[in-house]
Amino acid sequence: MTILVTGGAGFIGSNFVLDWLRQSDEPVVNLDALTYAGNLENLASLQGDARHTFVKGDIGDRALVDRLLAEHRPRAVVHFAAESHVDRSIHGPGAFMKTNVEGTFTLLEAARAYWGTLADDARAGFRFHHVSTDEVYGSLKPEDPPFAETNPYEPNSPYSASKAASDHLVRAWHHTYGLPVVTTNCSNNYGPYHFPEKLIPLMIVNALAGKPLPVYGDGQQIRDWLYVTDHCSGIRAVLAGGRVGETYNIGGWNEKANIDIVKTVCALLDELRPSPEGSYARLITYVKDRPGHDRRYAIDARKIERELGWRPAETFETGIRKTVQWYLDHPEWVARVQSGAYREWLDKQYG
Ligand code: NAD
Ligand code: TYD
Repeated sequence: MTILVTGGAGFIGSNFVLDWLRQSDEPVVNLDALTYAGNLENLASLQGDARHTFVKGDIGDRALVDRLLAEHRPRAVVHFAAESHVDRSIHGPGAFMKTNVEGTFTLLEAARAYWGTLADDARAGFRFHHVSTDEVYGSLKPEDPPFAETNPYEPNSPYSASKAASDHLVRAWHHTYGLPVVTTNCSNNYGPYHFPEKLIPLMIVNALAGKPLPVYGDGQQIRDWLYVTDHCSGIRAVLAGGRVGETYNIGGWNEKANIDIVKTVCALLDELRPSPEGSYARLITYVKDRPGHDRRYAIDARKIERELGWRPAETFETGIRKTVQWYLDHPEWVARVQSGAYREWLDKQYG
């Protein structure tokens, strides 16, 4: 038995591969294009481990995907590969359409062709697990209940629109062709190997460098934060026991305003790496808001708990402390991801 993971050199994908191989000996074939967000260093501990086969390539390369499926005969595809950053999607939506929409289409077609060649048992057991986001549901008002799986799709950014499109393709490939799919829609993740263009790691690395901590708009936007290994265990639970054709929301029951996240990161750094210049909170700087900025996301994660017994293991307090400590313990990882391309992004976004 083998699984094919796409995007397994990115933030969540690499955590998933590491977590998977800690829990089982089932081999992983990892297809990743190594865009700016993909980093083989995340997988350095797997060097020489025969259970992990890394393949550099694009999910949109049909011939390559066909070859990998035929060679490795996976029992499941777990699809993480995507362009994932909302701010980048505002500057350049094209890459999001290419990978998230066209790439998912190509992967679905390749999976469908391969699945059609399987014997009955293998056909019934096969899964195409699509990893998606809560952002497809749009933005909540303060008094709204959290997102349930039945919420209508109302994506507002080029990123969320591209993910919504991919979710619809996955759904259609099940309804039309019978492909055994499951989809998970998860809230904001945080933890080790998070690329420092996203809120939490950006605040940690900027604070340590004595740079401004840019808070968009009034900082009162709310996200529901989930520690990344809890997302990984949720995916494992759905892959193992989720009902075919269903979607499952995964969330941390941790709604927090951005400004409170930033203040928490500052307080932890004050404790763990105090600065002679005073609290890191002095670096908090309110900047221009993100266009079309969604005000609030929150996940109702009762379905996955009811059907599969999954709940997050980390609280926000335990997860954020581990995360800050991880960045303090891995200055060389941080230094290496802050390459020229990363600096160009900071200039473009923050001036
Ligand atoms: P990421 O940007 O850190 O990693 C994406 C990975 O995909 C990278 O390794 C990149 O090299 C690879 N990739 C990009 N285009 C590719 C292509 N065309 N072919 C092959 N590989 C390609 O993203 P992430 O934060 O790890 O997110 C992973 C998945 O989870 C995405 O589908 C994202 O939409 C979803 N998701 C993320 C979050 C979050 O908070 N980060 C929350 C919910 C869902
Ligand atoms: P982000 O990590 O980009 O995730 P997403 O947009 O997918 O939720 O941003 C999380 C929140 O933090 C979002 O409301 C935007 C905000 N934010 C800032 O205030 N400043 C920043 O520099 C960044 C990157 C994000």
